[in-house]
Amino acid sequence: MDILSINNADVLVNEKKVLENINLHISEGESYVLLGPNGSGKTSLLKSLIGLRGYNIKGDVKYLNLKSENMNITERAKNGMFLCYQHPQEVKGVKITEFLSKISKIPHNEIEKYIDKLKLREHINKDINIGFSGGEMKRLEVLQAIVRRPRLLMLDEIDSGVDIESIKLIANVLMEYFKDSGASGILVTHQAKILEYMDVSKACVLMKNTSYCYPDPKKVLETVMTEGYSACIDCNERITDE
Ligand SMILES: Nc1ncnc2c1ncn2[C@@H]1O[C@H](COP(=O)(O)OP(=O)(O)OP(=O)(O)O)[C@@H](O)[C@H]1O
Ligand SMILES: [Mg+2]
Repeated sequence: MDILSINNADVLVNEKKVLENINLHISEGESYVLLGPNGSGKTSLLKSLIGLRGYNIKGDVKYLNLKSENMNITERAKNGMFLCYQHPQEVKGVKITEFLSKISKIPHNEIEKYIDKLKLREHINKDINIGFSGGEMKRLEVLQAIVRRPRLLMLDEIDSGVDIESIKLIANVLMEYFKDSGASGILVTHQAKILEYMDVSKACVLMKNTSYCYPDPKKVLETVMTEGYSACIDCNERITDE
């Protein structure tokens, strides 16, 4: 079963069309890497899928076989969607421990285990993201996601600004989660490093305002690194309409 199916959809940011005729089908337990140059619409697509104000996806879009246009942001979150932000926000006055205990779907002792795994012990009594480095914020994004046990976990540049050791740490925690839970994922990245540690089955490239899907994510990333994104336009293996 497709957990997410997007057919001929457009993405609008404050009524301006940034993506046109997007196609993407993600099965249960499958993960995609979402690639594309700066400004190609990766973040806008993820924000429109979770349903943030100002970001709309229009077309035939189904999440868990439900029409996404009929679900608001709360319903999407309650049904297992989670977005880790590219630029996490500071939330003054909200203690991490209190927030986690409110949103968590896992027992307290398991939350504790993840706090240690993600090396967040010394930060756990702070307000959300207040006084955090960029890399620490990304580890906290992963912690918030994992305790919710999402069915579709969207990770927007979870590796940007993160040191090599922490990329490995984050990737290992995520891989373990995907294996245990059978969740699906969309991973946005500009770097090959994280794919050394994560098993991702397919790639989707956003460029020239639309989507191209490919079966081999590592090969796509390698091509992009050596020849640039224009190679995707000419690629004979591309699948534009799955
Ligand atoms: N809140 C907003 N208001 C106006 N325009 C926006 C807004 N958010 C995004 N855009 C525009 O939409 C387009 C896509 O931006 P988006 O952030 O989705 O790109 P991206 O692929 O995530 O880029 P990057 O790799 O730099 O993160 C850009 O032209 C951007 O300027
Ligand atoms: Mg982005």
